[in-house]
Amino acid sequence: MAKILVTGGLGFIGSHTVVELINAGYEPVIVDDLSNSNVKILDQLTKILGRKPIFHQLDLCDEAGVKQLLSAEPDIDGIIHFAAFKAVGESVEFPLKYYRNNFYSLINLLNTYYSKPVNFVFSSSCTVYGQPDQLPVTENASVKPAESPYGNTKQIAEEILKDMIASGGSRYKVIALRYFNPVGAHESALIGELPVGVPQNLVPFVTQTAIGKREKITVFGNDYHTPDGSCIRDYIHVVDLAKAHVAALKLMEQESFTGYDVFNIGTGKGTSVLEIIDAFERSTGEKLNFVIGPRRPGDVEQVWGDVTKSTNVLGWKTELDIDTMMASAWAWEKYIANNPL
Ligand code: WQD
Repeated sequence: MAKILVTGGLGFIGSHTVVELINAGYEPVIVDDLSNSNVKILDQLTKILGRKPIFHQLDLCDEAGVKQLLSAEPDIDGIIHFAAFKAVGESVEFPLKYYRNNFYSLINLLNTYYSKPVNFVFSSSCTVYGQPDQLPVTENASVKPAESPYGNTKQIAEEILKDMIASGGSRYKVIALRYFNPVGAHESALIGELPVGVPQNLVPFVTQTAIGKREKITVFGNDYHTPDGSCIRDYIHVVDLAKAHVAALKLMEQESFTGYDVFNIGTGKGTSVLEIIDAFERSTGEKLNFVIGPRRPGDVEQVWGDVTKSTNVLGWKTELDIDTMMASAWAWEKYIANNPL
């Protein structure tokens, strides 16, 4: 059974990907430093999977620690690299923390398995596009100057991977997946998004408002040049996103795939903030208390992905709709309210 290292595997997207890897017949090996995740997700995964996945607690910035990982896990067929700091606002406040963590961990990992024929999936982001000139945005759209150090680490990491492949020295194959906005939760409601403190992202703030943890939700601006004036994003169900990682591994397992490629991972449709609120109320029957507030600095007005390449080359497309995203996020919020981890 092919062994896949999943760094950041106890995080939101990582944990959902562990489930889909096992469903697809892979053996995931979770590596996580627990800096932004909860070790109890391992128990939750065990409930879903009926067995406990392999887990190593490790900070990938610790070079000696990563060398020990190699001796513990020498036969790795693939790596899915999620482990990184990812809060846009925090990255503006503490850029060096972001550059150190996100680059030391990536380079340590790449060096450690450098001589092995490993299929490497990199967790990238639509933030590399900034505010695209054309919508939907395609993978060959010009990459704009990043709006934050976080976005910059994703852009530079893609360049590091491309340069490594171009040098010809390694036996890696690499696919970068540019995520749009991951939301929702596994159908079991046993795993989901666990924001630390006050949620920065829209959907966890919506569900925490609905459950009464937050008094109201503020829509950051309704004076944009969009149909209803609120910002537009490409929200994708986290389970669909997780399945894209399995598709990426399968594509690299084909002899015909060599080198490096990049794919947009979204639905190909744009949804506004006010439409998200509507979809949440419609699919859950819950009434949301929201107000219109000022724009949030750094927000792009509208971005959604062209997913033609992912459909035709990766052989993947989304199956779950916005109502399912909202209903699953709500089921998880209710579960975690009654079963705090
Ligand atoms: C979505 C929309 C807000 C909160 C995220 C990640 C980023 C990247 C892409 C991975 C915006 C509005 C939000 C609120 C609101 N993912 N909003 N009230 O900014 O698109 O970026 O997805 O790399 O890392 O951060 O997502 O959920 O923060 O905001 O009106 O209380 O919801 O203005 O228009 P964003 P978000």
